[in-house]
Amino acid sequence: MKKLENKVVFITGGSSGIGLCCALAAANEGAKIAIADMNKEEGEKALAQIKAITKDAIFILCDVSKAENCEKAIAETVKYFGRLDAACNNAGIGGVAAATGDYPLDAWEKVIDVNLNGVFYCVKYELQQMVKQGGGVIVNMSSILGHVGFSTACAYTSAKHALIGLTQTVAWEYGTQGIRINSICPGFIETPMLKNAGLLDNKPVHDMIAGMHAMKRLGKPEEIANTFCWLISNDASFVTGASILVDGGYTAQ
Ligand code: NAI
Repeated sequence: MKKLENKVVFITGGSSGIGLCCALAAANEGAKIAIADMNKEEGEKALAQIKAITKDAIFILCDVSKAENCEKAIAETVKYFGRLDAACNNAGIGGVAAATGDYPLDAWEKVIDVNLNGVFYCVKYELQQMVKQGGGVIVNMSSILGHVGFSTACAYTSAKHALIGLTQTVAWEYGTQGIRINSICPGFIETPMLKNAGLLDNKPVHDMIAGMHAMKRLGKPEEIANTFCWLISNDASFVTGASILVDGGYTAQ
């Protein structure tokens, strides 16, 4: 029997990068997959990749910065598959780079809307379903920047730090109701987010980022997906409220 056989897994930002990799890895472990993303075109492509592994997969168009979208996406998942065993609240954006004193107000709001409010909305509606069915597992995608600061990224670091507090709070609130919740805190990972920010193709920049990690390289999305699959499996049955660094030693200094 596979590790996630027949588990229903909901993943936001599942069209790309880490989210897509989590979806593929969970599908390979036997899970049924709902990916929710605001990018329809990439979402359809991602769905085709997941369907090559399992026919039990759906794509839901969803902007996580809107509470009603999150509520509907989770309801749609439950309507289609009958329950919700695990969730990965992963959709996120980088935001603009500027010193805090110059950080544009609208850019701050946008990052907080997606990276913090979006996760809160999903957690809220996931919890309601998981309480009803008597259990479930939630993973929030934080970051190394949930543990340490980073110049020019005040909104991103604030949102990612807040996810750790949200995760710890929910762990205490729901720990006796069969619900576990944890955060994953990746180091720099080779995904479209970094590529689109111009951080992968410029060798000096790439090498500079690699050098910030003890292992002197960037991570691969599969290395985050492996941690995700472990966290939502029974192998992690006593793990809750944790923020798990998967960062090649970035914060080990
Ligand atoms: P990505 O850009 O490859 O994928 C992000 C996905 O989220 C995209 O499919 C995008 O369409 C979707 N998305 C963005 N805004 C959305 C919204 N409002 N509603 C629904 N979907 C939305 O990025 P990547 O690298 O895979 O990042 C995934 C998560 O991991 C993010 O939360 C990011 O902050 C976090 N992370 C990434 C790191 C990295 O180095 N790539 C490092 C640490 C954390």
